[in-house]
Amino acid sequence: MERESTALVTGGGRGIGQAICVELAARGHDIAIADLDEEEMATTVALVEEEGQEALALPTDLKHHESVETTVDRALSTFGSVEHLVNNAGIAGPTAACEDVAPEEWDETLAVNLRGPFYTCRTLLPTMKDQGYGRIVNIASVTGKRPLTQRTPYATAKMGLIGFTRTLAAEVGEYDINVNAVCPGSVDGPRIRRVFEQKAEATGRTYEAVRADAENESPRRELVTREDIANSVAFLCSPDADRITGQDLNVSAGKVMY
Ligand SMILES: NC(=O)c1ccc[n+]([C@@H]2O[C@H](COP(=O)([O-])OP(=O)(O)OC[C@H]3O[C@@H](n4cnc5c(N)ncnc54)[C@H](O)[C@@H]3O)[C@@H](O)[C@H]2O)c1
Repeated sequence: MERESTALVTGGGRGIGQAICVELAARGHDIAIADLDEEEMATTVALVEEEGQEALALPTDLKHHESVETTVDRALSTFGSVEHLVNNAGIAGPTAACEDVAPEEWDETLAVNLRGPFYTCRTLLPTMKDQGYGRIVNIASVTGKRPLTQRTPYATAKMGLIGFTRTLAAEVGEYDINVNAVCPGSVDGPRIRRVFEQKAEATGRTYEAVRADAENESPRRELVTREDIANSVAFLCSPDADRITGQDLNVSAGKVMY
């Protein structure tokens, strides 16, 4: 039986995070959304309510520990408990050769993508340990598995997030707290379409040709969807995954197989 409970989802205002909020709501969970963008969170709140669940928008900057503490306190005082934590928020960081990455860009990318999940976990873990239950899912990337040139800060953060996932899983398993990572490949949506358009313009090729290259990187010859990621998160938060912890699950249409 699915346990009806509360999920705290970072970066739930749009994109993959929004799809995760909607899928978890469809499975009977109330949702606390932690995001920078208040306007976008309002849309997610409406979508969660359409699924018949409660939603709470919590303006949060994951770079700041006090902001995360306030968010976790508000989620706990509103819902009484938080059983699921989905560390989804992330930024792409700069696209540049390593020597051209500014130290501030490096720090910001690691602050959101790696320090943010550390802050949410360190703040919520005492409650999860007290309640003797928790499911944590970190959204990493296939770039947490293999290099992506011109993206050293992003790749470093995502590889670090997988190390964090494994180490924390080993630390908290005895409290019935599972910690897993999901590693998306390229997810179809406005962001990736913009990247294809820019690449097409820069290289004088057509949008279709650039997109086909990306699709052909996977054995299934396709990109993945936001819903694919949301379904894998919902699975890892469900009783079907009770004995799965410390894993990094590629959802990449087979693009990466390790
Ligand atoms: N889109 C892809 O193809 C893809 C592929 C692999 C991994 N991922 C990962 O999936 C996650 C979601 O990606 P997306 O494409 O939906 O991104 P997105 O940019 O559409 O959404 C990210 C969300 O995080 C929020 N956010 C950013 N910085 C924040 C901060 N400091 N504090 C609080 N919230 C903050 C944004 O406001 C936004 O709502 C990221 O971790 C990303 O690295 C995405």
